[in-house]
Amino acid sequence: MRHWNLTIDAHGIAWMRLDTAGASMNKLSAEVLAEFAAQLDEFDRKPPAGMIIQSAKDSGFIAGADVEEFKALDKPERAQEIIARGWHLFNRLAAVSYPTLSLIRGVCLGGGLEISLACRYRIAVDEPATRLGLPEVLLGIVPGWGGMMRLPRLIGPQAALDMMLTGKTLDARRAKRAGLVDLAVPARLMERSAAELIRSGRPPHRPSGLPALMNHPLMRPIIAAMAKKQVAKKARPEHYPAPYAIIDLWQKTDGDPLKMPQLMQAIIGSPTTKNLLRVFFLQERLKSLGKESSFKAKHLHVIGAGTMGGDIAAWGALRGLTVTLQDQDISRIAPAMGRAAALFKKRLRDPLLRRAAMDRLIPDTKGEGIHHADVVIEAIFENLQAKHALFQQIEPSLKPGAILATNTSSLKIEDLRTALADPSRLVGIHFFNPVAMMPLVEVVAAAGTQTQAAADAAAFVRSIDKLPLPVKSAPGFLVNAVLAPYMLGAMRKLDEGVMPSVIDAAMRRFGMPMGPIELADTVGLDIALAAGQQLSDTTTAPKCLMERVERGDLGKKTGRGFYEWAKGSIANRSDVAAIPEGLAESLIAPLVDRTQALVQEGVIADADLADAGVIFSTGFAPFRGGPLNWNKTRSIRG
Ligand code: NAI
Repeated sequence: MRHWNLTIDAHGIAWMRLDTAGASMNKLSAEVLAEFAAQLDEFDRKPPAGMIIQSAKDSGFIAGADVEEFKALDKPERAQEIIARGWHLFNRLAAVSYPTLSLIRGVCLGGGLEISLACRYRIAVDEPATRLGLPEVLLGIVPGWGGMMRLPRLIGPQAALDMMLTGKTLDARRAKRAGLVDLAVPARLMERSAAELIRSGRPPHRPSGLPALMNHPLMRPIIAAMAKKQVAKKARPEHYPAPYAIIDLWQKTDGDPLKMPQLMQAIIGSPTTKNLLRVFFLQERLKSLGKESSFKAKHLHVIGAGTMGGDIAAWGALRGLTVTLQDQDISRIAPAMGRAAALFKKRLRDPLLRRAAMDRLIPDTKGEGIHHADVVIEAIFENLQAKHALFQQIEPSLKPGAILATNTSSLKIEDLRTALADPSRLVGIHFFNPVAMMPLVEVVAAAGTQTQAAADAAAFVRSIDKLPLPVKSAPGFLVNAVLAPYMLGAMRKLDEGVMPSVIDAAMRRFGMPMGPIELADTVGLDIALAAGQQLSDTTTAPKCLMERVERGDLGKKTGRGFYEWAKGSIANRSDVAAIPEGLAESLIAPLVDRTQALVQEGVIADADLADAGVIFSTGFAPFRGGPLNWNKTRSIRG
């Protein structure tokens, strides 16, 4: 076998270890499944005492099906074939006469969980990387290889639907509590536990109590109706058909996708699925841009412990770097340390890991970290003279080959670097606010920037688990440049008399996570005004914006802007009865036009990268596949 290693132990147990050839993560490609099927044939002839499925890779258990193969999904017969392949094979696995066990360490997603669900037992290794889930819905598809049938039977339909409809994953302990795995064990005990459990003769887990009751056929219509109501709060069927299909398939066919071929065709052939797959591949492409250099950073030095610098430093420490955080005095660093502690508390369950992250984050008022740092990021006030003075002072202390980066939003790399003896080394590494939430980071190169420096910066960004987007130096780079005309355009509509709540509702309905007026209030109206003046073609700012800034009503931070704010949320949000036809299209047009123009000007390399940049920074309706893709196809209305 090319992808599986088989060993038979002294007790006659077959250990099937998956090591998908040519891939860093295990995937269930057609070939991997065909080899598995052939091995089951072999075992039919000569049954082992048991079979344990495990990963031979350190990168995790199984990431899922091979999404590359989904590119053929637009051909109906191929789609049917892909579904049938896993459905029949895993049914066969579930029916074998010998005991089977899935030993899960690291990610176990989609098809990876479905093969595990078809085993008699499951053990998960209790460590942070272990995550179990059926995230198919996030790609616009359904868990068609038995997940929709077996997960509800195992853990009850409500918990199962919750997982399948949101794509959320469970760690080992939660999986144990839910009944999804039989045991959650530390890594050192995993193989021994697996060997014991498979020989135990224990009956397979079945839910009891309420979850068991809910599986009764009479309960199905009620549960399905409740689930649909939940889904409807978040996603409209014409935008996201897959969650509705999951509920229907579970209710009407016990999760057998082959019994509702028309529904499956409608899902698979929908523009949403095509676009969500497109977004998946765009994300893969951004990830790969971080692989063009082998640059590795251990030590990050951040100068300026304000909103951005403090949060960049905390993120770096969370991702395992040693981070020195410099500011003028300790009182300016203290709030950043407090925010870092809150971030670690939220993201790290284990107190020891939290402690270690805190230990990696070192306040540094004297700037001693600069001498050792592999990456130095400047995030001080947005002031050219201050940044010049800083660069002159620190340049002699930099390690050779260290990245020197600025987080500037609005100053030009070309102007900033004049203070340097080696201007070619300065790159922009532009994070978005809030740092921990925003996946995208723009990597900015000007004419004359060392290609290696830009490639190293992209590799660094990827290494801290962000998505690098290479852009050329230009006002607002990509993201702020496209947001400015969109937000100003929305405010001009306010000047024309449209209500803020109507504008925001129109754009949320279009699929944006937040409307442009709420976004302006959140960013701060002073910042929106400054950015607008710098980045828009027209010289006069919208009247409604200027008035508010003059009054000192700056949005969320002052409690009043276009909305009234209380405790961090809008206090006077009103219901919107009707949204004028075509409003969303006219509001989004300036963003689309500017994105197009930036591709033409070469600020961003191509239309796909531009779409990726806008989606991963603004949350632009993923099911539309990005602004340029949407504009080209206009396949989903409303
Ligand atoms: P901030 O005003 O919150 O923090 C700046 C910090 O730099 C202050 O703590 C200040 O004491 C410190 N500082 C100033 N001069 C210094 C020096 N010579 N040495 C050491 N520390 C010094 O500023 P913010 O908002 O964090 O912005 C920082 C940079 O990030 C700016 O270039 C800005 O354009 C950029 N940026 C800001 C975003 C935002 O949403 N606030 C988003 C993306 C980029």
